Amino acid sequence: MVVKIGLLGLGTVGTGTAQILLDPSGRNPLLKDITIHRVGVRSPDKPRSVQFPPEVITSDLKAIVNDPDIDIVVELLGGLEPARSLILQAIAQKKHVVTANKAVIARYGDEIYNSANQAGVYVLLEAAVGGGIPIIKPLKQSLGANRITQIIGIINGTTNYILSEMTTAGADFSDVLAEAQRLGYAEADPTADVDGLDAADKIAILASLGFGGRVQREDVYCEGIRQVSAADIAYADKLGFVIKLLAIAKGSGGQESQTLELRVHPTLVPKDHPLASINGVYNAILVAGDPLGQVMFYGPGAGSGPTASAVVSDIMNIVAILKSSGQTPTLDPLLSCVHQHFCQI
Ligand code: HSE
Repeated sequence: MVVKIGLLGLGTVGTGTAQILLDPSGRNPLLKDITIHRVGVRSPDKPRSVQFPPEVITSDLKAIVNDPDIDIVVELLGGLEPARSLILQAIAQKKHVVTANKAVIARYGDEIYNSANQAGVYVLLEAAVGGGIPIIKPLKQSLGANRITQIIGIINGTTNYILSEMTTAGADFSDVLAEAQRLGYAEADPTADVDGLDAADKIAILASLGFGGRVQREDVYCEGIRQVSAADIAYADKLGFVIKLLAIAKGSGGQESQTLELRVHPTLVPKDHPLASINGVYNAILVAGDPLGQVMFYGPGAGSGPTASAVVSDIMNIVAILKSSGQTPTLDPLLSCVHQHFCQI
């Protein structure tokens, strides 16, 4: 049984994903049963580091989600549209979906998971939060017995790189941002990262999973790092702190009457706190629960290879299920609970 992939997007993460799928030797044998059937890109003639025969590449993105031969659509376009519509159309065509799209899932998770549940298909999103760090599946499954009380993370690599450089070099925000753009760490339009919007999308997803309900993205208080100065960092240092952009979800009251606090903002972190030593584009997520205590997930939070690692693992999870059962199982949705949260900022 060969499972056929329709890949939407061949940017940084799409290229990393294709590279893994095209080079299965020495990896899990399951990869040999996966083939990239078609690739949808906005600019088919753009030079690329992975090559496909011309008939595999198309700019007709809808043709991919409607292709009857494709089993799994891998959405790596980013942004809200056309990504959301293509995901929904793929689900309507009874295709499984793997996505790294935190912006779409944070806003339209309910719609997408309700549709997926009705269609009996999987939507997996390990790559949407924390790049290569396994956090979605652990939070939903491995920590499932716990009453989660807190999720606190450094979940934006770009801002962590900028703040780390400001701390070590004593440089100003705008100088470090320009250097990060030159090195390709920060986007030409850095708004989503430096204003905390990307981290807010991600904490909305983690909070939905950890606290058992659908969190509204607009309930996340969000403040970025543009106002953090070299002087702020120097004063913080004298007082025994580092400044980090933290994404925080704190719950109280148990799953039945949960009150949630959801916020993203620059935070004074004591130097002996486990999150204080996370530097560069690395991410770390602390999850606290009862009876677990605390666990910290740490690793490369962005970039082609790490994020593609999460994408391909999701693809392989679906392929493993398809191969073991030979049919599509009935699913409980990932974000399954009704709106029962009151978010206090
Ligand atoms: N722009 C994101 C970051 C990429 O810097 O963390 C990974 O989601």
